[in-house]
Amino acid sequence: MIYPIVMYGDAVLRKRATDIEKGTDLTQLIADMFETMDEANGIGLAAPQIGKSIRLFVVDGTGLQDEPTLKDFKKAFVNPQITDEYGNEWPFEEGCLSIPNIREEVLRKETVRIKYFDENWNAFDEEFSGMKARIIQHEYDHIEGKLFVDYLSPLKKRMLKSKLTNISKGDVDTEYRIAAPLKK
Ligand code: NI
Repeated sequence: MIYPIVMYGDAVLRKRATDIEKGTDLTQLIADMFETMDEANGIGLAAPQIGKSIRLFVVDGTGLQDEPTLKDFKKAFVNPQITDEYGNEWPFEEGCLSIPNIREEVLRKETVRIKYFDENWNAFDEEFSGMKARIIQHEYDHIEGKLFVDYLSPLKKRMLKSKLTNISKGDVDTEYRIAAPLKK
């Protein structure tokens, strides 16, 4: 099932998501999240973006030809917890399925250490660097109620304000189905 993607301005994107009870069968939900992400050509999707305030996100960088390091980076992260972030901060222009047609440079640290479960409740404690870390940091922010535009300067934010308002109203062009909080 393909979910509509929740747009900027919806309160669910601002909540800290809650842990999922261990052992819960997530097979269908995770399959649906991969399908939804794929349909929208995304490389990451967090549960709040389909209206569910739970600690779960999926990533799939396998379709990015110019990022060979991501060629097998397709995973689900259940109840993830970032325990460390280190290394130099580096800039990258990020986008977000919940904030269509806006891309801005964000600084993030090179490496993350993250504890998580996979879809079968196997536990992992791993480090990721570079683009993998970048994607994880962005998706992890979603389950903490944070968005990439939060990192922008006050000036940049002011410049984006009307675009963001339009997105909240559903007044934006996308090739995927959206759920906009202020749509009349
Ligand atoms: Ni996002």
